[in-house]
Amino acid sequence: MSLIPPSPPPGTRLLVTGGARGIGRAVADAFAACGARVAILDRDAVPDAPAGWLCLRGSVAEAAEVEAAFAAMDEAWGGVDVALANAGFAMNTPTLDLSVEDWRRTLDVNLTGAFLTAQAAARRMLRDGAGLILFTSSLYGTIGGAERAAYCATKAAVANLARSLACEWGPRGVRVNALAPGYTETALVGDLVARGRLDAAALTARAPLRRLVQPGEVAALACFLASPAASAITGAVLPVDAGWAANGAP
Ligand SMILES: NC(=O)c1ccc[n+]([C@@H]2O[C@H](COP(=O)([O-])OP(=O)(O)OC[C@H]3O[C@@H](n4cnc5c(N)ncnc54)[C@H](O)[C@@H]3O)[C@@H](O)[C@H]2O)c1
Repeated sequence: MSLIPPSPPPGTRLLVTGGARGIGRAVADAFAACGARVAILDRDAVPDAPAGWLCLRGSVAEAAEVEAAFAAMDEAWGGVDVALANAGFAMNTPTLDLSVEDWRRTLDVNLTGAFLTAQAAARRMLRDGAGLILFTSSLYGTIGGAERAAYCATKAAVANLARSLACEWGPRGVRVNALAPGYTETALVGDLVARGRLDAAALTARAPLRRLVQPGEVAALACFLASPAASAITGAVLPVDAGWAANGAP
């Protein structure tokens, strides 16, 4: 039996939000290595973007900027096959100190941004009768955490957004799933550790595998979900977290 790693078909048209760095960039790189065509929507520039990538600047919280990114894909490639709504951020603030402005900003980016990305992607995919929408939820989509109220609320909402859209769009050929990474070695986590908002040693101690997740390990799950091997998987929230959420021990 030959073992071929499950991967997106060559030529797959991928859009990743928040793809300038971290998990989003790892997904973009992994798909590109499989021969995919890559578009990125990020508020920041994409460092060292390979030739041929479509790099669009904008915020996922702005409907017009999201729509413009998909319109650029329409013009370049005639549509989209896989969209990963990944842009997001965490503040880790005591809830009594959380301003309503920061609460709203977290919802705007992490939740409304995911909704706008999915809606723009689905307009194309439902027309074409095929497609895959992925969200980056989190281990905090299924468990709670002190000083993470806004983040946890958005990530749980994103997980149930995935399930709901899978129900609505499955009959028309569009699959929808959510990735639920655990603590992953990216700038997001690095910045929180640097600001004293996260204790890196405690995170690895809690994980049964005793380590952080690598961005490439989240990307591998996205590649699998975009492969023919995952053609029956929809409405799923899939952990890739070194066992973190499974561990009920303090
Ligand atoms: N790193 C982790 O431990 C971890 C764990 C679980 C889930 N996640 C989720 O994974 C996603 C990516 O996280 P990461 O660790 O790679 O973060 P990161 O901070 O390294 O990268 C996030 C990217 O999103 C972009 N971005 C932020 N706001 C944006 C906006 N409004 N519009 C467009 N782009 C925007 C940033 O410019 C950046 O390029 C986030 O949704 C995060 O919540 C991360």
